[in-house]
Order: sequence, then C-alpha cells, then structure tokens
Amino acid sequence: MLDEPIKPLPSVKSLNLDERKVRLGERMFMDPRLSRDGTVACVSCHQPGKGGADGAARSTGIRQQLGGINAPSVFNAALHFKQFWDGRADGLLEQMDGVVHNPKEFDHTWPEIVTKLGNDTGLVNDFKAVYPAGLQATTIRDAIATYERSLLTPSRFDRYLLGEPNAISADEKKGYQLFKQYGCVACHQGVAVGGNMFQKFGVFNNYFGQRGNPTAADLGRYNVTKLETDKYVFKVPSLRNVELTAPYFHDGSVTTLDKAVDVMFLNQLGRPAPAEDKQLIVQFLRSLTGEKLETRP
Ligand code: HEC
Ligand code: HEC
Repeated sequence: MLDEPIKPLPSVKSLNLDERKVRLGERMFMDPRLSRDGTVACVSCHQPGKGGADGAARSTGIRQQLGGINAPSVFNAALHFKQFWDGRADGLLEQMDGVVHNPKEFDHTWPEIVTKLGNDTGLVNDFKAVYPAGLQATTIRDAIATYERSLLTPSRFDRYLLGEPNAISADEKKGYQLFKQYGCVACHQGVAVGGNMFQKFGVFNNYFGQRGNPTAADLGRYNVTKLETDKYVFKVPSLRNVELTAPYFHDGSVTTLDKAVDVMFLNQLGRPAPAEDKQLIVQFLRSLTGEKLETRP
C-alpha cells in the first residue's frame, strides 16, 4: 500500500458486519413510516443515485418544510469522527435520533415508531429472527447504523493507493500532486478525504460577508460550543463522490465542482486558482467517485 495522507477504504468484508442486520437496516432506511405522517424516509434525502445526498441546496422534510442546511452524503459517513456539519452528534446513533426528533425531518419519537411498526407482523418476525430482543428502538437504530457502516464506495483512487499504478490517469496523478502541494490535503485527508477535523470556512477571506444573507447554520461549530473561536467552523467534508453531490458547501451555494475549488483556493488558501492546476485537481477529485456501492458484507 502507498504511504499517502489519503488512505484506502477498508473492504466491507473486513468489517465483519452481520448481513441480516445490513438488510434489515436497508429496509428501515427506505421506510417512510419512520416519519410522523409517513411521507419521508432516510432515502428521501440520501439517494443512492445522487451520491448519497439529494441534489438540493436544502432538503425538504415532512409537511414540505425546508431545512436550514445542505444534506451531506450518507456514503462513507460512518468513517467520520463526528456527524453533521457542526459535529454535534458523536456517532451514527446520536445522529439518527436527531433526524427522528427534528420537527422539520421526521418529527417523531421512538416509542411511537415502535408502536406503529409493531402492527406489521412480518417486520416484527423478521426482527425477532435477527435480534433476540425483537423490534425495539435500539434494534432499529442498530440495524440502520449497521447498514450505514456498509455504505462504502471504493474508487479508482483506492485501487491506485492499493498498488495499481494505472488505475488513475497521468492527469489525475498530477492533480493529486497539486492537491498535496497547494495544501488541500492539510484539511481533506485520511480514509474519507475529510471528516476527521474541524476547520474555519474563510481562513483568508470573509466568505460570509461576500455571500450575504447570514443564517444560523453559518455559525457552524459555534452553535454547539458557544465559543467565539468556533464561529464559521465546520467539519471538513469528505470529498469522496464529490463529483455527484452538487450543490456544494453547507449552504448549497455553489453548483459546480469547478467553482467550489475556486472558492476553496480563495477562502482556504488565500490565492486565486491557476486555471490549469484547478482543472487537474478537479480531475483528481473525480477519481474519488465510487466505482460501485459496496453494501454486501
Ligand atoms: C429531510 C431530509 C433528511 C432526512 C429525511 C434524513 N437526512 Fe440525514 N441529513 C440531512 C441533512 C440536511 C443533514 C445535515 C444536517 C446538519 O449537518 O446539521 C444530514 C446529515 C446526515 C448524516 C451526517 C453526515 C455527515 O457528513 O455529517 C448522516 C449519517 C445521515 N444524515 C443519515 C441519515 C439517516 C440514517 C436518516 C434516516 C434515519 C436520515 N439521514 C434522514 C437530511 C436528511
Ligand atoms: C483550511 C482547511 C481547508 C483547506 C486547506 C481546503 N479545504 Fe476544502 N473545505 C474545508 C471546509 C471547512 C469545507 C466546508 C465549508 C462549508 O461548506 O462550510 C470545505 C469544502 C470543500 C468542498 C465542498 C465539499 C462539499 O461536499 O460541499 C470542496 C470540493 C473542497 N473543499 C475542495 C478543496 C480543495 C480542492 C482544496 C485545495 C485547493 C481545499 N478544499 C482546501 C476546509 C479546507
């Protein structure tokens, strides 16, 4: 394996997930009964065909309510050190409770969900067959989290890291060198190419002043810690499948990857992007797109 600041994804097999739990979790992920009025499921905002996100600047929850922030991908999210843009959830279980209780997302409670699903004898039996405790909030959460852990998207770049020199093109290799040389890798790194630290958005530039229309979500990590130094600080997003997850940034303000890289150069590196280098970096970023969605343990 190459010794690089970006690490290859583990294989789903190596995680030893229980395939039956993955399947149950997948069913629950697709099930709109988790929302109070039965109209929204996890998959509504995290669609496999849209890179695990929803293609909208802001997501629509139950009763057609618009959320306050862009939906990130659920793919590879289990690898992040914290969940949500502001890192307010430590792990997948806490993250899920956030969705269930959010009045703009599921607007529901676990006891009511368990009562509702308890009328579905088929589902109750299927849970009993896999979990001795049967259908409960804890087992539904465990099944969904197990499914989420299986959502890994190995890419051509992973094959390159694992020792296949021709898995990426010469230009993609150049783009990767530039990604390291310019310092993108100082923030976007590790197995998820992001998702392992908090950083300020607008290190060298007042991004928010230039964009206008401030929102509560712009305050980022400050909303969790109330520390002045955490204003405009966000979890560095994963760049895996970034080709598929436009629009970009927590505010969904940028529609093309090309423009998103421009914004990063100006705000995070304090310089404009040389056109040719930017093109090569974008090509490298496309090599991070999953070749397949690996969900079978
Ligand atoms: C109405 C749209 C919507 C629904 C439904 C929804 N999500 Fe999300 N999801 C989002 C948004 C928006 C965020 C980002 C919120 C934030 O950071 O404050 C998010 C964040 C996440 C994250 C964190 C990813 C990261 O990079 O931090 C995970 C994991 C996730 N959702 C999984 C789920 C699961 C599991 C369900 C079902 C139980 C679900 N989502 C239902 C919109 C949705
Ligand atoms: C100082 C840390 C830092 C550096 C350096 C940095 N980024 Fe980022 N990047 C971030 C943060 C933080 C965000 C999330 C900003 C937000 O939406 O609030 C982000 C977001 C992005 C996004 C949008 C992802 C999405 O899903 O919305 C892309 C693309 C990106 N960066 C690429 C790059 C590239 C290419 C470089 C180098 C030219 C780079 N970044 C340098 C911290 C950094």
